[in-house]
Amino acid sequence: MELVTAIRERRSVRKFKAQDVPKNIITEIMEEARWSPSWGNTQPWDFYVLTGDALAKFKEMNLRKTLAAEAISSDVPMLEKWPDAMKIRYADLGKLVLSAQGIKREDKASRDKYYQEMVSFFDAPCLILACISRDNLVEYQMLDIGLIAQTICLVAHDKRLGTCMLAAAARYPAEIRRIAAIPDDRKIVLGIALGYPDSSFPINNFARDRAKLDEIVHWVE
Ligand SMILES: Cc1cc2nc3c(=O)[nH]c(=O)nc-3n(C[C@H](O)[C@H](O)[C@H](O)COP(=O)(O)O)c2cc1C
Repeated sequence: MELVTAIRERRSVRKFKAQDVPKNIITEIMEEARWSPSWGNTQPWDFYVLTGDALAKFKEMNLRKTLAAEAISSDVPMLEKWPDAMKIRYADLGKLVLSAQGIKREDKASRDKYYQEMVSFFDAPCLILACISRDNLVEYQMLDIGLIAQTICLVAHDKRLGTCMLAAAARYPAEIRRIAAIPDDRKIVLGIALGYPDSSFPINNFARDRAKLDEIVHWVE
């Protein structure tokens, strides 16, 4: 697949087929992704690939705590304070994912159901947890994690797999550590849901939006 095609076609997949991803394919994705750049080639990341019973336990825990409205205690702050322009984009995305499924704003039961699907990682058969070191330059490690996360998603897309990066999979690190045997010296940053996309669902098909180029690019001559 052409690189530019992969960049334009990749999208967050929120409905997966009930089909496992073979371990060798996940290995191939990570083999390519590890060539991502990082500060001073420090490669501050490691990854925990959850499938099967471990993933089932994780989903159950994340859903249970969400339903119990347990306070988020993520290793990376998840500030809900956004500048206005970003708040609008965030809200627009929320509206899009609901309207794509024919869910009306006032239909709380359907909204809740969708939210529960999200905190169950859209039932993906695989979840890759991206971690960084606790005692290091956090900001640049975060940049590095972002670079490799996008690479993982692009390589997966090249293999006709779907991904969704999920902050929603990093909310309760103490429990995640217990389930996935992640040492205390790692910060859990992000989950990446991975599986075969079910393209028949509108949630995987709605038109996405981006800010216009002249809103984000400032020419200085
Ligand atoms: C750091 C990060 C965290 C994200 N967390 C979530 C999440 O918890 N739930 C979700 O549905 N999408 C999540 N996303 C996906 C974004 O909503 C998505 O990338 C954005 O709307 C752009 O859409 P696209 O990926 O389809 O191009 C996350 C993306 C990033 C980069």
